[in-house]
Amino acid sequence: MEKKFKRTLVTTALPYANGPVHIGHLAGVYVPADIYTRYLRMRGCDVIMVGGSDEHGVPITLRARKESITPQQVVDRYHTIIKDSLEELGISFDIYSRTTSELHHQTASEFFRRLYDNGEFTVQTALQPYDEKTNEFLADRYVVGTCPRCGNENAYGDQCEACGSSLNVTDLINPRSALTGEPVKMRETTHWYLPLDKWEPNLREWILENHKEWKTNVYGQCKSWLDAGLQPRAVSRDLNWGVPVPVEGAEGKVLYVWFDAPIGYISNTKELLPDSWEKYWKDPESRIVNFIGKDNIVFHCIVFPSMLMAYGDNFQLPYNVPANEFLNLEGDKISTSRNWAVWLHEYLREFPGKQDVLRYVLTANAPETKDNDFTWADFQARNNNELVAILGNFVNRAVVLTHKYFGGIVPECGELSDTDHEIFAELSDIKVALSDALDSFHFREALKQAMEIARLGNRYLQETEPWKLAKTDMTRTATILNVALQLCANLAIAFEPFIPFSSARLSKMLGLGKLNWDMLGRSDLVITGNVIAPAELLFEKIEDSDVQTQVQKLLDTKKANETAAWKAEPQADTIEFDTFMSSDLRVGTVLECEKVPKADKLLRFLIDDGLEKRTIVSGIAKYYKPEDLIGKQVCFIANLAPRKLKGIVSEGMILSAVNSDGAIVLITPSAPVAPGAKIG
Ligand code: 2FM
Ligand code: ZN
Repeated sequence: MEKKFKRTLVTTALPYANGPVHIGHLAGVYVPADIYTRYLRMRGCDVIMVGGSDEHGVPITLRARKESITPQQVVDRYHTIIKDSLEELGISFDIYSRTTSELHHQTASEFFRRLYDNGEFTVQTALQPYDEKTNEFLADRYVVGTCPRCGNENAYGDQCEACGSSLNVTDLINPRSALTGEPVKMRETTHWYLPLDKWEPNLREWILENHKEWKTNVYGQCKSWLDAGLQPRAVSRDLNWGVPVPVEGAEGKVLYVWFDAPIGYISNTKELLPDSWEKYWKDPESRIVNFIGKDNIVFHCIVFPSMLMAYGDNFQLPYNVPANEFLNLEGDKISTSRNWAVWLHEYLREFPGKQDVLRYVLTANAPETKDNDFTWADFQARNNNELVAILGNFVNRAVVLTHKYFGGIVPECGELSDTDHEIFAELSDIKVALSDALDSFHFREALKQAMEIARLGNRYLQETEPWKLAKTDMTRTATILNVALQLCANLAIAFEPFIPFSSARLSKMLGLGKLNWDMLGRSDLVITGNVIAPAELLFEKIEDSDVQTQVQKLLDTKKANETAAWKAEPQADTIEFDTFMSSDLRVGTVLECEKVPKADKLLRFLIDDGLEKRTIVSGIAKYYKPEDLIGKQVCFIANLAPRKLKGIVSEGMILSAVNSDGAIVLITPSAPVAPGAKIG
């Protein structure tokens, strides 16, 4: 670990307060940031972690319109859910604030004004879509029209969700306002632009020359932006929700959400430390680490740094931006609008007390270098095969054996054998590898190293077999269990950044005091003669049924999405009343029902139609069991000319509806009626 930095500011991407946070946010940003911060705290470093909700921008206003509430109501609701759930997961923010706060508005406003006064902006006038009915400019998301690529009639002005193409408003065919359905008119509007091109040489040197050690996904994305050449970027929008542009004559304009959101990091630090915030931002001996997802790279590595350089006043650029790739869910992209996600607040409710399991799984499977997939099967396997079977099992064995042979009193450590020395030598190697991995933002690897200590412990007990030695050699048994308990104490330290709840329980079980990173590797953490608490299980097995419930929930979501996307067939041509009346629709009672041999779709019905018995063949065998239909009433067309199906004469047709998923559902009367009753 480099010693030259006096303090560290950890920032986490501000989640939009238009929905709760899900496992994608956690794996990409909050869990790694929390691991890093906890690790630095354990090392005794001066570190703060700041975060907050991103409460401006079009997505929030869209949600408000959809629900007919105000944007403020939207953000109040989700800010609370997000803040509480992150806290419950143990994400140890020093402050979690919000961009609607007065302090943030002031800070962002002042930031803009300084750039404006220093002539850092250019002004450009461009054509923007306008809704003449509501008298407002429309954000790209508010314009819908036909996609020029695939013909989807409901493509957005920035993207077609049917074919995934990213679009410009001017690409849309027949663009109309999503608010009123009116055709949009293009009107001139003026905005302030930050000339990113001006900062290109500085950015090139800063990233491409001086930060070759950054993660390759981050470095690569920056390089391709820089190589493509930077353009001025508009930093204001025509919108009535956000930080007003602090310039006379700018009524109806607010700062672009991506201008104000990263300034949120500054506002949050200020709110936390009103008197000393500047040293975290302006002292070259401080370092700033931005935890973000890959879709935020350009804003954190190109746009915000350009803003900071334009502001001057010694603002420091980030030391590292360890962006993660995306986490998918059961093979599909996580999506808030499609409800394809594992929502944190729901997880916490459905798996009470299992914060660490989620933290562990999301770290073990973190999308550090490529997109990864979260599956419930993997969640269960990692819990059962790793947390329970390796970590929990070792701790349990060491504690149970101490109670069994020494009444729960930490036994004395005698002379160490070669095996014991090897164990501590391996532990010290693990400490180096673990610390290196954490320092270089390789959290998956770090977690693996921590788990190595538990594997080491299990191997040690397997090799030394204290339960056998206890019959003959209590001195050696005492030493072995002392060593095992020391390994447990080391586990409490090594795992604290990753699974802090379990680490705290373990530490309490062993009667350890405050832990720090320097203690890792030591062999005298558990004190001889102290009494340890009875063994309690750190982790419990996750049953198949728990996992099935979650998988079913996702299947239900898929089905609901398909139904929502389903469109009824267009109506058929109009018919005259008499034409309808000429069909004789009736209710009948099923007397017999059986499968038609060699026809897997067909059922043969014998129906009591009130006059006699008639045979009807119907293609619903895939959806009903014949025995379930006997005695049921069905609706049928009585005067249809008889037709032969698989050699059987069918005298009519049974009425059914075809559902959105293609399944066939029989039409039945809502109360029993006399067989032969007419429908009409
Ligand atoms: O992508 C997002 O969810 C943004 N709300 C992230 C903002 S990060 C920072 F700049 F505040
Ligand atoms: Zn399309």
